[in-house]
Parts: sequence; structure tokens; C-alpha cells
Amino acid sequence: MKTKQLYLSDSYLKQADAKVAEIEQNEKITVVYLDQTIFYAQGGGQPADIGIIAGKNGTLTVSHVSYNNGKIQHKGMLSGTLEENDVVTLTIDWKKRYENMQLHTAGHVLDQAVKNIIPNVYGVDGTHGIQGKNYIEFNEEIKPDQLPQIQKEIENICAAGEDITTQMVTHAEIKAMGIHLPFDLPKNKDLRIMSIGSYPAMPDGGTQLKNTGECWPISVDSVQEKKNLWRVQYSVKHPQHKKSPESIKKKKEEHLPLVSLEELKVHATRLEQEVKADVDEGSPDLHTKYLGKNGLFNQLAKTIKDIGPAERKQAGMLLNQVKAKITAALKQTTTKQQHSAIDLTMPGTAPHVGHLHPVTQAMREITDIFEQIGFTRVRYPEVDWDWYVFESLNMPPHHPARDEWETFFVDVPDTTKDVAYDSNNPRKRHPSLVGGKVVLTTHTSNGQVREMERMDSTPPIRFINIARCYRRQQDATHTQMFHQFEGLVIDKHITIQHLKGTLDHFAQHFYGPTVKSRIRPFHFQFTEPSFEVDFSCHICDGTGVVNGEKCKFCKSGWHEVGGAGMVHPNVLKAGGIDPDIYTGFAFGWGVERTYTLKPGLNIDDIRLLYSSNIQFLEQF
Ligand code: DAH
Repeated sequence: MKTKQLYLSDSYLKQADAKVAEIEQNEKITVVYLDQTIFYAQGGGQPADIGIIAGKNGTLTVSHVSYNNGKIQHKGMLSGTLEENDVVTLTIDWKKRYENMQLHTAGHVLDQAVKNIIPNVYGVDGTHGIQGKNYIEFNEEIKPDQLPQIQKEIENICAAGEDITTQMVTHAEIKAMGIHLPFDLPKNKDLRIMSIGSYPAMPDGGTQLKNTGECWPISVDSVQEKKNLWRVQYSVKHPQHKKSPESIKKKKEEHLPLVSLEELKVHATRLEQEVKADVDEGSPDLHTKYLGKNGLFNQLAKTIKDIGPAERKQAGMLLNQVKAKITAALKQTTTKQQHSAIDLTMPGTAPHVGHLHPVTQAMREITDIFEQIGFTRVRYPEVDWDWYVFESLNMPPHHPARDEWETFFVDVPDTTKDVAYDSNNPRKRHPSLVGGKVVLTTHTSNGQVREMERMDSTPPIRFINIARCYRRQQDATHTQMFHQFEGLVIDKHITIQHLKGTLDHFAQHFYGPTVKSRIRPFHFQFTEPSFEVDFSCHICDGTGVVNGEKCKFCKSGWHEVGGAGMVHPNVLKAGGIDPDIYTGFAFGWGVERTYTLKPGLNIDDIRLLYSSNIQFLEQF
């Protein structure tokens, strides 16, 4: 059953009743589906709501809400029990939601202001509060010196107090209204549009303020070009932050509440649940944490001064109850701890069950795909001799090609100088026998000569080497530690056609049956000829065009992923293999980049993969 999204027609609903349609219990996280909801499911750049779902026998503290095929999942920790068909009361954290609405409407006002000033420019994407980012990306250039004018126009739109309205419409109606859709939207579903005053409507699924006069002060902060889109960052300020201390005092004298009883209830329920979880886990020092002078209860109790006089009495009663509940729960710890020493029949605390990290999942999938065609997964050291990382790969000391790898060197004595170099027989300098410099592997190509040695220089060789690599680099598409996978095939009569067939096999199995590979001439020291490898874009099917416009995902129809080529004779020689008898191909590239290009994933900053952010990682 689909969940009715009440917030689409009334974004000011703070509380509502609903019926539980379905419940899934996964260890500590409970997922609740309802017949209708006021909780905003994350999407359209707006973060999910948090809050509580209270039934007669239990309460879910909602920590994330997401949309899944028409159904909305409310995820969180459950205390007590909830059952199908229970009637429950939903309360959202209104302060947070209102801030999200401010950010979202501000994004639309910014979009409108830009359209008013620069004709034919429109926003194609935006984020309003997710991971603390607020921006709109525009299709055409916006110059930094245009920002003051945009700022003025925003202020005009807000000062004009324009009504903001929303409406559900069909695709045909959208067409008839002549509304420009900046991006592709599902054709089989009705759409929601929003309009600011009499300006043309735009598609929107988020929660909006009722009038631009309600907007907190919006400031346009910067503009940056990113892959041919112009990203304008903005922020909003709570008006209180701008107001003088006198005006806040005046507000208090006028008895305008800064915190509502509803918000206090949300915080109180969260606190009670946290205590219960801590008690269940047997965490130490709970008394100080909750009931100490600067403990969580006193922090909550302090907010009573910000509650309006009409609700203050009820708030006081609520706080008394919370304190009693915390005290009772903490008493249980002491008895529990005493008992646990002797009561061996008590059930244990269930561990939180996670899942494999997305990069590990990707590595396993890559391994499976290559194993299907006879490759063997191997793994070689990530701290290795310079010999394997560079020199055996046709890059003698001081060769300029080494500069492409921003190498971390390991500070151990270099014994190279003790060794005579014999250019006719590079294996004489084999460092596991004679020493040399030590580096953190900059690529998985270090496995090539190691594998030839492991196989006693006797093909056929067919390996896939997946390992950590390190380089001095850090930005949205690079991390200092990352993973690469490397393929190597050596046998008699191996040709470029075998390489191309292998790349196509991978493309079709990893990305989808219609994806193709393409190789372009390039240069690597360890292959001849060398290529760069591209895969066709699964969104535009390699055409670079979606609905008559440039494909936003790839811009050109293809994604560049890595390098490949026919193994250089000097590399074969370094591994003791006769290049007159055998040939081979190799390829290698980054696991993270390969993974983030998968259909359905939209990760624009690979550093997120290593941010240890559970909420982010749980999505995969
Ligand atoms: N090792 C290269 C790098 O990290 C990638 C590469 C290119 C690997 C060509 C190969 C190859 O095996 O044949 O940039």
C-alpha cells in the first residue's frame, strides 16, 4: 500500500494520526510503514524529518525517513511494541523541519531571482540542507560580479510577500502550461508543481513556506563552475541571530515562546529512549551522564524558560515525569549489574549487525565477474619495493614517467647503491635479493612482475589483483588511500581483441547489458601500445544527449575509467618471460571511481565512502 504524503498538501502539519500498515524489525532498527504520514522522506535535496511515532504500547524515535517505490519507510529505535493496524500519533521535530522549509524555499527564490535577471538561465539541480550544503546549480555561466544584483532581486521577491502555491498536475498539463522541465522526470506519475506569486511554476516535491514574506534573510555566498554547471551557494539566517539582544528580550516580554511544548515532548522522548538503550547496554557512569549537574536532564530542563507561559505548567509536569522515568531506569541498571554477575540465564545484548562496506561489495562483485572468465584473484603487498612498483615496469630510476604517480616513500635505508646495475639483465637488481627503495604502492601494477615470478615465469597467467593504493592527493574525486584492480593475461598469441573482449565482458556484467567499452590511444611506460578505457554512459546510452539536452551524468556519452595496453617486452623480460614467444595484455583502474559510476548511485564526492558516516553507508 502506498503511503499518503500529507506534507504535499500541507507542509505546516506538525502532528497527525495514522495507522500502522507494516513493520519490519532488523536488530536494533525498526522500519514502520504507515497509511499516511507527515514525515518528509528525504529527496529533492531536502533532508528527511525526524520525530516520534507514538502508539498505545510503544514509541518509535524516527531517525531517518526514505521513499521506496511509493512506500515511505520510517526508520528508528523502538521502545515498547507497535503492531499492524495500531493507531499512532506522529510528531515531527518542527524546529528542524521549519529550518528545512526555509532552506528549500530559499533555493526556489534564488532560482527565480536568477531567472528574473539572466534570461534563459535555470537551475538544474540543488541541495537544501543535506550534509549542511545549500546550493543551486545553473545551466549557464553566472559571474561573481552578478551576485550582488541577484542578492537584491532575492530581497525584492521576499519583500513583495509573494504567495507560494503548490498543485498536483499530469505531464500533459505541464506541457499545456508550457512549463520548462530542467531535468527528466518520470512520465507515468503525476507531478507536483510550485509557483511563487505569478511567476511560472516549477516542478517540486518538497515542503515550502506559504509566502516569501516568511523567508528568513537569504544570502548568496559564492559561485563556482563545476563540470559546466554554475553552482551558487547560499545560506539563510534565523532572524533571531540578526536581532539585537533587546529585541529577543522584548520577544520574551511579549511572551512569545522560543520553544513549544511539542518540541519539548520530542526531546523528552528521545532522552528516555537514550537512557533505556544505555541501560540495556550496561554503559558505565550513567548517573553523571543523565542526572549530573550538567547532565542531559538538566540541559533539557533549562529549556523551560523558553517555553511560553501558557504551556509552562504542562512542561514542568512533563519534566517531572521524565526525571522519574530516568531515575527508575537507572535503578534498573544497578539491580541489573548486581544480577548479571550471577544470573547466567539473562539474555545477552544483541550486537548491532551492519553490512559489508560498499567498496568491499564492489571488490567482491568485480572478483566474481573476472572469475567467471578464468581469472584468479591475487593480492600483493601494499608496501613494496620500488623495483616492483616502477623499475620492473620499464621505469628505470629517474625516469620522468615516475612523476605521474604522487608517491609516498617509506623511510628505510636505501641499499640500491651497493648493487651494480646491469642493463642487459635487470633481474640482477631483483630487490627481494638485493634491496632498494621502499614505497607505498601507487598502483596495483606492482603485482605484474610479482605474479610472473610466482608462476615461475611460465604462462598462461591470468590474474586480477585488487589492493589498496596510496597517492599524495585529496579532493572530491581522489583520496590518499584508494583501491585499484589490475588484470593481467599472458600467453601465446594474446592480442588486443582479447583485451577488448575482456573489457566488454566487465562493462556488461558490472554496469548493464547495453554498456560498451571503448579504447583510445594513450601512453604508459609498461604497455605498448597503451590505451585509455572508456565505458558508454548508461543514462544516455553513449549518445551524450537526453531529451535533446546534454546528458548531465557524462556530458559526452562516455566515462573514462582507466588504462590498459599490451604488456611491454621489457616488463615480460623483467618477469623472466620471453617476449618473442609470449604476449599479454594488462589493465588497471580505481575501484571507487568504477563503483560510483554504477546506475542508480549518485555519489559526487568519493571521500564520503570513507567518512564513517553510518547514515550514508547504510544506504548501500
Ligand atoms: N597503473 C596505471 C595507473 O595507476 C593504470 C594502468 C594502465 C594499469 C595501463 C595497467 C595498464 O595495467 O596496462 O595509472
